[in-house]
Amino acid sequence: MDSICVTGGAELHGEIPIAGAKNACLALMPATLLSEEPLTLMNAPRLSDIKTMSSLLQSLGSEVQSLQDGKVIAMSSSGPVNTTADYDIVRKMRASNLVLGPLLAREGHAIVSLPGGCAIGARPMDIHVTALEAMGAEIELKDGYLHAKTSGGLKGAKVPLRFASVGATENVLMAATLAKGTTVIENAAREPEIIDLADCLTKMGAQIDGAGTSTITIQGVDRLGGATHPVITDRIELGTYMLAPAICGGDVECLGGRMSLVEAFAEKLDAAGVSVEETPRGLKVARKNGRIRAIDVKTEPFPGFPTDLQAQMMALMCTAEGVSHLEETIFENRFMHAPELLRMGASIDVQGGIATVTGVERLKGAPVMATDLRASVSLILAGLAAEDETVVSRVYHLDRGYEHVEEKLGAVGAKIERLSDR
Ligand code: EPZ
Repeated sequence: MDSICVTGGAELHGEIPIAGAKNACLALMPATLLSEEPLTLMNAPRLSDIKTMSSLLQSLGSEVQSLQDGKVIAMSSSGPVNTTADYDIVRKMRASNLVLGPLLAREGHAIVSLPGGCAIGARPMDIHVTALEAMGAEIELKDGYLHAKTSGGLKGAKVPLRFASVGATENVLMAATLAKGTTVIENAAREPEIIDLADCLTKMGAQIDGAGTSTITIQGVDRLGGATHPVITDRIELGTYMLAPAICGGDVECLGGRMSLVEAFAEKLDAAGVSVEETPRGLKVARKNGRIRAIDVKTEPFPGFPTDLQAQMMALMCTAEGVSHLEETIFENRFMHAPELLRMGASIDVQGGIATVTGVERLKGAPVMATDLRASVSLILAGLAAEDETVVSRVYHLDRGYEHVEEKLGAVGAKIERLSDR
């Protein structure tokens, strides 16, 4: 298993290109199942999760080609579709559950493994199931698999979500495009990735209103065509790299970044003493004079502060002046980066869903372990400012969501290298 070694202390200067959004691409790819015509995605990120989704879709009978060094994904689902998504793929990546809605819409039946828990929480699928049952699906759990079927096809319905689940919104949105009649999703997730999926489905011929708001209305159509669609910029990768100059000084321009993708996050950075300026090419980020100030953060569904940037913000708060409180409201166990940061000399007290961080002057490099995707990158960020060396092990977690992290940070002056143990 690879590790990444970071030697702290260097200021960062230069440009970091931000890739296409992992969480948009993972929702866009299953849309190929809704049409017999080609669906091509541009600006795709080169990540292991994308490879996992490609393998899953191929196991269902789709053709998936990775072109231009992975930046283009050409898909076609014209042939017979296998409608069983196996546990051995689904357990590796929860987003595999996003084939449920499209399979039900296309074939009228699907057998999709429950993803099982993951490091950050139980992450059940009750909201997905309740919503699809409202559209006429019959779904039962057997041997760890959801067995779903519809007699006579899905029907449009009013679908209130008890929580603005991103995945449930995406599954229902895709299923509703081919349902008979009108579907209204209430309390829908408002993330930019939802808007991107709706834009792509509309190009394929779907009739969708209200994507990006809490109420999305979908008028079902008989069939969808193909499309070519560029994946939006990854707002979580963007926020992650915005924190790099904030943590160790300097100034970095994140190419492709737009303020609209990270408004709540940028406001918190500003309050902490980090300047964020929108330029024609992206977002220019620099630490203002003096030490970073401690601020409080509460994660919320978009447009609130993203849970996927909580671990990274904690790394910044570890050396801020004062005491900060980070409240995690989306997942029940998303502070696993805290014990690793403690090994680097941080002062963090976790009580339930709130982590209280008392800033210290400087962290000390140490061997630490990645536990989940965003926790792993928060340790890299902490290492950028720490004394001496930090070695982050189990970086396969990192490779799920960040392409070439050592190249991108190395290019702006970070002392960082990947250690492959043979
Ligand atoms: C998406 O996961 C993202 N993944 C996650 O990013 C992100 O953290 C999350 O949304 C929240 O923003 C992808 O888009 C591939 P949810 P998703 O359904 O759809 C509970 C990353 O780091 N819930 O909005 O699975 C659930 O347990 C990943 O890139 C139910 O209880 O998130 C969680 O506590 C991590 N029942 C909360 O809702 C359900 O049926 C939010 O889940 C569904 C969800």
